[in-house]
Amino acid sequence: MPDSEFDWRRVDEYLVSTLVKEDHALVEARATALVSHLPMAEVSPTQGKLLWMLARMMNARRVLEFGTLTGYSAIWLARAVGPDGHVTTLELERPSAEVALQNLELAGVADRVTVMVGPAAASASQLVDQGEEPFDFVFIDADKPNNPRYLEAAMQLTRPGSVIVCDNVVRSGTVTDAGSDDERVRGVRAFLEIVAADPRLEATAIQTVGSKGWDGFAIAIVL
Ligand code: DHB
Ligand code: MG
Repeated sequence: MPDSEFDWRRVDEYLVSTLVKEDHALVEARATALVSHLPMAEVSPTQGKLLWMLARMMNARRVLEFGTLTGYSAIWLARAVGPDGHVTTLELERPSAEVALQNLELAGVADRVTVMVGPAAASASQLVDQGEEPFDFVFIDADKPNNPRYLEAAMQLTRPGSVIVCDNVVRSGTVTDAGSDDERVRGVRAFLEIVAADPRLEATAIQTVGSKGWDGFAIAIVL
């Protein structure tokens, strides 16, 4: 029975070539991580399309993303919200933000995306302070130790019916290690526990295998 990472990757390649069909801009956005020496941490093509699907299913018009990197997921989300929608994406590093802006330009969606540079928690506070309208859809995919902080900000920047998706909540199974000294695992566990305890949220998490190994998404709805 096929059960290796090699098989997961092979199946992802099949699904991408049959269903997802990345265009030139998405392929290019993925490639820029390599040439710009950015971390290879973008969502996979099937996951990017899932974000697009979720945003489309709820007719999201305003999207907030924590963690831009090359802009790969921002392209999917910007395409989901359409020309009248908007994506605000928060990126710590200016060089990544510049790469992302080029990729968003190539994808033809730069006019509907704002990239805020600096620590994402600070950028999110700024959005709260400036009385930003609630976002319909939030994607949390930045540094994992800060996940609880990003969730707190997301709760201030959403409304009942908004959806919050968080990447990398399984981490090759290490999420179950309650005594982990890995700050990323601790951040993910704290995030999940806060979600579970918050009566304003209902959530699940889905494990995934594929070209990014064994990981998963948490999906929460604001009640
Ligand atoms: C890492 C971060 C991510 O968001 C991801 O999807 C994969 C890996 C990382 O920091 O290594
Ligand atoms: Mg991620």
